[in-house]
Amino acid sequence: MLALAGKHHPRARLTGVASYLPERVLTNAELTEIVDTTDEWIRERTGIRERRIAADDQATSDLAVAAGEAVLRSTRTSASDVDLVIVATTTPDHIFPPTATLVAERLGATAAAAVDMNAVCSGFVYAFAHATAMVEAGFARKVLVIGAETLSRIVNWDDRSTCVLFADGAGAALLEADDEGAQGDGVIGFELGADGSGKDILCIPAGGSRMPSSTEGVTHEDLCIQMQGREVFRFATRIMIDSATRLLEAAGLTVDDVDLLVAHQANERILDHAVEKLEIPREKVVMNLDRYGNTSSASIPIALAEAAERGQVAPGDLVLMVGFGAGLTWGAALVRWEPRA
Ligand code: COA
Repeated sequence: MLALAGKHHPRARLTGVASYLPERVLTNAELTEIVDTTDEWIRERTGIRERRIAADDQATSDLAVAAGEAVLRSTRTSASDVDLVIVATTTPDHIFPPTATLVAERLGATAAAAVDMNAVCSGFVYAFAHATAMVEAGFARKVLVIGAETLSRIVNWDDRSTCVLFADGAGAALLEADDEGAQGDGVIGFELGADGSGKDILCIPAGGSRMPSSTEGVTHEDLCIQMQGREVFRFATRIMIDSATRLLEAAGLTVDDVDLLVAHQANERILDHAVEKLEIPREKVVMNLDRYGNTSSASIPIALAEAAERGQVAPGDLVLMVGFGAGLTWGAALVRWEPRA
């Protein structure tokens, strides 16, 4: 699916972003006491040095609420003015109710519709695109898009090939309607895709309706993330370039027009590949996975929030977001960074 924002009003603008990371830091050195690994292997193969892990009493909604509160505060937005809350997550508090309903209630977004979106590590871009559509269709004026994960709860801590990668965190963005916006402002477009033929290379086999957790013979492993690392790596490196290129071409833009690339923080080598193939200067690419690991649908808003905080992105800059993950799914979005003054 490829879409460019039309000439009609309103335009959807990205006016704020914020993040929340749990306090607990889990270092590579600590991981060597859990599984047969080394700090050197993890750093060389992934770029990760440490990651955050939610406290025992923190669920995904707690992280999402903290990030949501932060973005409402920074944009001086009243929760009661929010029309829609979308929580992108793979690790909801419960199968139902949706985590978004819990988040909306705790934020005081009493007038908002609330729904979860599960597109795994592409979740934030998918949610962002859906939020844009709701704003541009005139159905919503203010949408809170939150990516939040507690992947530490679905990782197999005996599997060294996955437990060193995934972690916890949340990021939140505010999208607002602008009736005066011109083409080229706000959200410029997005490209979303899916290929279910790759369903087995990254999945949790059990715990859903195909293989309920009560099924005889279901093991702990079946209820945790299972991954064919090399296959995922191949897909990620290919799709990041393809999706970004398709979107830029359709929008009549080039990589030179992009001020900041905020890609899913899965692996430093995947990001390095994008730097090389897209020929984008490294200083235009956000990298924070050394400190947070792979936080799935939370990684893009966390990275964008950090970039904004340290002045790596300025008002009016063109931001290219690219996500990819299980499903297989992927998504790219082009948006101007237009924070509330
Ligand atoms: N510590 C030490 N050794 C490890 C290890 C760890 N944490 N994890 C795996 N290994 C071992 C393997 O057992 C294997 O050993 P063997 O050759 O004796 O069988 C060896 O390292 C190489 O494994 P391989 O899977 O080929 O390594 P790799 O270079 O492909 O790196 C990943 C593994 C997971 C880092 C890499 O494939 C990757 O990043 N894939 C993408 C994953 C991803 O981003 N997933 C999320 C997408 S949203």
